[in-house]
Amino acid sequence: MAFSITGTASALPERSVTNDELSTFLDTSDEWIFPRTGIKSRRVVTSESLDELASRAARAALEDAGITAADLSLIICTTTTGDHLVPAEACAIAAAIGATCPAYDISAACAGFVFALDIADGWFARGRGKHVLIVSAEEMTRLVDWTDRATCVLFGDGAAAAVLEAGGASPLYLNLTCDPQVDVLEVPGIAGSSPFKQRDDEARANVLSMQGRRVFKFGVSTICDSVHAMCDACNITPADIDHFVFHQANERILAAATTRLGVENDRVVRLIEHTGNISSACIPLALDELARSGKLASGQLVALVGFGAGLDTGACLLRWA
Ligand code: ACO
Repeated sequence: MAFSITGTASALPERSVTNDELSTFLDTSDEWIFPRTGIKSRRVVTSESLDELASRAARAALEDAGITAADLSLIICTTTTGDHLVPAEACAIAAAIGATCPAYDISAACAGFVFALDIADGWFARGRGKHVLIVSAEEMTRLVDWTDRATCVLFGDGAAAAVLEAGGASPLYLNLTCDPQVDVLEVPGIAGSSPFKQRDDEARANVLSMQGRRVFKFGVSTICDSVHAMCDACNITPADIDHFVFHQANERILAAATTRLGVENDRVVRLIEHTGNISSACIPLALDELARSGKLASGQLVALVGFGAGLDTGACLLRWA
């Protein structure tokens, strides 16, 4: 039992913040940021909640798929920045859209959406239901250190969703990996106030830290190795794949991988220039953009590659329904 993606949608915060605006309070500039990252502006949460963005994306994806919340058998939210540690962000989405199916979150950082596709594939294979909603929702601006110019300029906020229906030709390939390297990109958990604790977690800042150059190398090699692995497994070449939807970490990672794979630029979806890196929401957001662009036709092959903290990776080849 495979699946088809029958609806996509996204919801971004209203506020766009340009590089020039960042340079009013950080020692940075558009001249530094844009050539190194491809980012001109990013959307940031102001008065919206992540619950609202996630629910908006969820409702619109259901509408796009032509189903209602009552048709859902499972809701998976991929997030590292939910409005609540408890309950799951997925439960807040269920409440907002009026769903009563099981709902839970998964955390696989920027690769989260592909991990959720794998879970949904297993759900359908076990005959557990007909429709699954995946919502990827991230408020990265809540995790970054706004005094650290090396990281805060890279990220943005937003949500995107996809409705999956049991049956169809996807996935043709799906592979998940973890190369455990916790220090490459990390956000420490909450310290708490237990009187019994003897470790000094308070000393660890509760913000994102990243080893940029290691992420860069890992990103380029993950994209290239994953595309070659899916091609080998499916007996095709990169030239046979119509669209590439890679995690939008950095334009220079996308450019290096595109060149190394030898594929045309216009087959690689890009939206980082005006969104920044929205972690797990990047892939479904790019997929939604592609679906709305009119360039995506039934029967075409779409390659997804996500990579991020962990270091987790997820790669998937879809035959668009
Ligand atoms: N503005 C101005 N100067 C800056 C900025 C900034 N925003 N950020 C760093 N610098 C300075 C540093 O302070 C340093 O100055 P110094 O030489 O005086 O000490 C200099 O620029 C070089 O700093 P590096 O950190 O070595 O910069 P690098 O050339 O590695 O570029 C970058 C940083 C763009 C982050 C690069 O490492 C990169 O592209 N890495 C990929 C990381 C990435 O894309 N992460 C996305 C999130 S992770 C994920 O999604 C999986």
